[in-house]
Amino acid sequence: MAKLAINGGEKVRTKPWPKWPIWDECEINAVTDVIKSGQWGRLAEDSRCKQFEEAFAAYQDAKYGIAVTNGTVALEIALRAAGVDVGDEVIVPSYTFVASATCVLANKAVPVFVDIDFETQNLYPEVVEAAITPRTRAIVPVHFAGRACDMERLLAIARKHNLAVVEDACHSWGAMWNDRKLGAVGDCGGVSFQASKHITAGEGGIILTNDDEVAAQAFSLHHIGRIPNRPFYEHHNAGWNARMNELTAAVLMCQFGRLDEQTQRRHENGLYLDEKLGAIDGISPLRRDPWMTRISRHVYAVNYDEEVVGVPRARFMEAVTAEGVGVGGGYPHPLYKNPLFAEKRFGKIAEMVEFPDYADMHHPNCERICQTQVWVAHTALLAEQSDMDDIINAFAKVVENVDELR
Ligand SMILES: Cc1ncc(COP(=O)(O)O)c(C=O)c1O
Repeated sequence: MAKLAINGGEKVRTKPWPKWPIWDECEINAVTDVIKSGQWGRLAEDSRCKQFEEAFAAYQDAKYGIAVTNGTVALEIALRAAGVDVGDEVIVPSYTFVASATCVLANKAVPVFVDIDFETQNLYPEVVEAAITPRTRAIVPVHFAGRACDMERLLAIARKHNLAVVEDACHSWGAMWNDRKLGAVGDCGGVSFQASKHITAGEGGIILTNDDEVAAQAFSLHHIGRIPNRPFYEHHNAGWNARMNELTAAVLMCQFGRLDEQTQRRHENGLYLDEKLGAIDGISPLRRDPWMTRISRHVYAVNYDEEVVGVPRARFMEAVTAEGVGVGGGYPHPLYKNPLFAEKRFGKIAEMVEFPDYADMHHPNCERICQTQVWVAHTALLAEQSDMDDIINAFAKVVENVDELR
């Protein structure tokens, strides 16, 4: 008789997993209060956006927060505020969400992709240093899934070559590098509050920084070039209207109230999964470097070895999902394989500025990881530690009964 659920056997997990987003009366009351107040935008001096900026920035160990409409625009503005301009080169890992690179294009600058460390999913100092040219202006370390990059060495490289460090901290709510939260460890960074993120209002973002000048510049850029204490129709920079609205800030304040406890739970459940899944042949949790003192686990990722387990990853994932533990394969290809980059669909700027030949790129670690990753959604890590055993048992059961899949 078949053991695997995909073949009609009993499922490991029948209980539902925690749903996302999590909300209660706090969000309902906060939104209702904003609607009744009539102050839906943040233009008044005292605003919920400002309260949220102050609370979230302080939590992330940043002096300033500038609340914006999404993580993409947070990164676009952060780069510009840090001095990135037309034709500058910006170093970005090839394994990330496209916004880590389109934020560079939005500034008419040049994304220079570097490979990642197969065991951490992050860019690393050696590839960064090798990619530096006289045109390089900034580095975008992406703390993928809240796994902190090697900021000590990256900051040293940046200092040596006079580069800005703009963190893609879009997954880094509550995550820590050497017990310090991320986003303002470098010059500045961007965070996302999009629907799947750990604190969300459907969309939203924030720019974080400890630098007075970068903060002033980012504030002006997100506010259509206005500067404080000047007339409303006086504009000083070619900026964005990227202001967050009060409804979003009200929801985010409630979400923020739950963030730390949830982050700690995901972190601890992640450590437990690392230990237990790591004992299964063919399943390798990512390396936890000593500076990754808290990992937010936007996804819980392992590498899958098809040779060892004996069936293609897609088949393995189907079987684990059938056991009641939903898994996915993450990004299917490096960013440079997207038509956007491979065909340089950048408009006229592609004729005016020199871009690398993305179509010829080959990053072995990134290309390999696109074929080996297995992701568990962060929501599952919000369950109890005993529920993590269902994830472990589902993986182990499929590996043990792999003959049924051939
Ligand atoms: C790594 C990374 N960077 C940037 C972004 C962009 O954030 P947003 O969707 O809020 O624009 C995301 C969001 O998915 C992301 O995962």
